[in-house]
Amino acid sequence: MELQVNGVKRNSKATPDSSLLSVLRDEFDLTGTKYGCGEGQCGACTVLLDGKAVRSCRTPLSATQGKKITTIEGLEVKGKLHPVQEAYLKVDVFQCGYCASGMVMSTVALLNNYPNPTEEQIKDFMNGNICRCGTYPRIVKAINEAAA
Ligand code: FES
Repeated sequence: MELQVNGVKRNSKATPDSSLLSVLRDEFDLTGTKYGCGEGQCGACTVLLDGKAVRSCRTPLSATQGKKITTIEGLEVKGKLHPVQEAYLKVDVFQCGYCASGMVMSTVALLNNYPNPTEEQIKDFMNGNICRCGTYPRIVKAINEAAA
């Protein structure tokens, strides 16, 4: 199957019902996207499909046809980090960092929907992304920083 990943057309040998996460990590070596729960519950595997946040562990390849897939590796442009990545670094959000990729991708999708989100919109939108280190206050701060 042909996929458009980070602006590049790639061919996968996987079957249409294979998870996007397994293809990204195991076939394309894009390991910035993390495997957390594998059940759509933690958000570690979040990528963008046509700019919308999806759980790649629960997204079959067949659902990606004709759509643009963006992973954390695709946010950097010409060696420059995405403003959301810069904001997360500036606020020094993470401890272990396992949720980082999913948090950043969900934040990009959030700001695509709400360029200046309220605290309630942030909490609603980011609700499915879990950080076991409990860095939520800093995540909210970084989102506000990126929106500013
Ligand atoms: Fe996909 Fe947890 S690994 S939501």
